[in-house]
Amino acid sequence: MTTPAHVAIIMDGNGRWAKARGLPRLAGHRAGVEALRKTVRAAPELGISYLTVYAFSSENWSRPKSEVSDLMGLLKLFIRRDLAELHQNGVRVRVIGDKEGLQPDIRGLLQEAESLTAGNEALTLVIAFNYGGRDEIVRTARKLADAVARGDMASDAITAESFAASLDTKGIPDPELVIRTSGELRLSNFLLWQAAYSELVFLPCYWPDFSREHLADALRDFAGRERRFGGLAARDVAL
Ligand code: FPP
Repeated sequence: MTTPAHVAIIMDGNGRWAKARGLPRLAGHRAGVEALRKTVRAAPELGISYLTVYAFSSENWSRPKSEVSDLMGLLKLFIRRDLAELHQNGVRVRVIGDKEGLQPDIRGLLQEAESLTAGNEALTLVIAFNYGGRDEIVRTARKLADAVARGDMASDAITAESFAASLDTKGIPDPELVIRTSGELRLSNFLLWQAAYSELVFLPCYWPDFSREHLADALRDFAGRERRFGGLAARDVAL
């Protein structure tokens, strides 16, 4: 079975999971963190090397102040409580998104997680936090434009390869598979550059209910897909 090296997940449906149980949205996000823990444990066992999760989008700031603050609190708690276990399990943490827009204490924690785990190899957990695909592309374009303006780079040295190598995800292969839970059928500004040729799997379950079995099913679905990257299906090449 072909296993994707990189799986990216839009962890959607925490709010609806909570509402269905008559619980506050925070309870849904807490249950979401638990589902994330389980997924991080399952991923390397299923042969996945890179797992990217959409934890806070650049658009999530428009949620009520209290929910934004809850999500910031959950990230801090996750790093404080889980970093030692992640490190022990050989998980390397990478963070993508606009770190400049985060509070200094959160930036510090994320930096600590990245530094401590930099040498680990069992799984790379990429946390997309204050992340937006368009924002990442704009920040990258600005960085390259500055390099050209300084005379450090010729404009014709800007290629798809050099652009990709300047994105937040530099050094990380593109995700072969993107999963979104909760039945919504869109990318919502997630990995817009990197997901150009990703296979997409949409699951009806809410994120807190996502389990190892859902992940294994999505991998089986992926294995049955034929990826053509704009070319022809193998069976049509000789025609
Ligand atoms: C979408 O559900 C989920 C989010 C906006 C946040 C994802 C966050 C977690 C899984 C927990 C936080 C994890 C860390 C590490 C901070 P939603 O709230 O949009 O659900 P809804 O569409 O049903 O309202």
